Amino acid sequence: MHYYIIIKLVEEANFAIKTAKNINQLNEVRTRYFGKKGKLTLPLKQIIKLNPFDKPIIGEAINKTKKTLYKRLKVHNAKLYKETINNKIAKEKIDVTLPGKGSENIGNFHPITRSLKRIKNIFKNLGFTSIYGPEIEDEFHNFEALNMPRKHPARAMHDTFYFNENYMLRSHTSSIMIRSIEKQNPPLKIFSSGKVYRCDSDLNHSPMFHQVEGLLVDEVVSFSDLKGAIEIFIKVFFEGQKIEVRFRPSYFPFTEPSAEIDVRINYSRDWLEVIGCGMIQHNILKRLNINPKFKGFAFGIGAERLTMLRYGIKDLRTLFNNDLRTWR
Ligand code: DAH
Repeated sequence: MHYYIIIKLVEEANFAIKTAKNINQLNEVRTRYFGKKGKLTLPLKQIIKLNPFDKPIIGEAINKTKKTLYKRLKVHNAKLYKETINNKIAKEKIDVTLPGKGSENIGNFHPITRSLKRIKNIFKNLGFTSIYGPEIEDEFHNFEALNMPRKHPARAMHDTFYFNENYMLRSHTSSIMIRSIEKQNPPLKIFSSGKVYRCDSDLNHSPMFHQVEGLLVDEVVSFSDLKGAIEIFIKVFFEGQKIEVRFRPSYFPFTEPSAEIDVRINYSRDWLEVIGCGMIQHNILKRLNINPKFKGFAFGIGAERLTMLRYGIKDLRTLFNNDLRTWR
């Protein structure tokens, strides 16, 4: 075999290497030219048969060429490999900004929590300060200081959970009235929200529910201030919904005059009582040694009732029964 054939083959191999589009094709080229029966393998072996004069020169040239070819093969192989990897990465790329699987089932705030946040926000904007009161109450703060001594008939309405004679789960947040006045001298403008407990369960009652108590004590306070505050509150709470509000005269041992506030939504047949309120009884402030120049109003809001109206919930107990279908 003449060496020019080898040169042609080298040219051919060079071209094949350059034009191989992927690693498989390149591997084919490798075997085609350098494999055991490769096109270049045999001729290269035949160099031995060249005459002694040509052998060293041609041999060296051919060896160099072979080395160069190998190098090209290697370089091209590395290039193709990189391309393959990059393609793979591009194809398998994950958009980390996409929402994760199952995110459509992610949790949310409980409707009561949402209502409480909404209520608190409104009263904060009206200038009321939020305070905390304990859920385990004593006889004095839950009843006595609110004009409900033992055996008072109004206590029967509360169906209280007692621990013993003196301690109970608070049956309303009105104990806050007493605690806040005890703690701080008027003028006072506070509210407090939290759980209250009564042994009661039907469409509009559950043994645990939430109230928000509000209280304003100052020198010049009238029932119309109370009415105005409540009306603004209801208007903002039900913003965007068709509602009607009705003040109904009522009785609470700790307020005089007292009223209950009913709300009706979308001209429905039924009114729902959502707030109890009134002017704080004079003797309550007196018992707590408050200067008689101070007067006050107070109100107690039922958070569940407001939530039912806002979300169209028919049975209050569905708020606590953990059936997710309720919220689909
Ligand atoms: N504590 C009353 C209840 O749970 C609600 C209430 C009525 C609160 C009148 C008040 C009020 O502050 O002035 O039924």
